[in-house]
Amino acid sequence: MWTFAINESGLRTGSVTRAYPKGIAILLVRLNGAVHAVSSNCPHMGCSLGGAILTGTILTCPCHDWQFDITTGKFVSAAEIGLETYPAKIENGDVLINLRGETQ
Ligand code: FES
Repeated sequence: MWTFAINESGLRTGSVTRAYPKGIAILLVRLNGAVHAVSSNCPHMGCSLGGAILTGTILTCPCHDWQFDITTGKFVSAAEIGLETYPAKIENGDVLINLRGETQ
């Protein structure tokens, strides 16, 4: 089931945008025409990634510099650790997120 996250006009390009579909903190990144959605809290010590720095596809946590690939959610130093990822799409000017991970 797709859930409204934010209007497309509020989505930044090349940096992170926070949204709260159904009260869940999500980070959105628009890159190369695609929208990526990941959980907003770092799996290290729970810092908010709302102030994270995006360099290419790499998101760097502002607290202790852990880095994640925004396209996969994986921690670059240990792929078994990562951010939760969610399917995302834009439809009629709305950014929609599937909080259950379904793509249909
Ligand atoms: S809380 Fe993100 S690196 Fe420590």
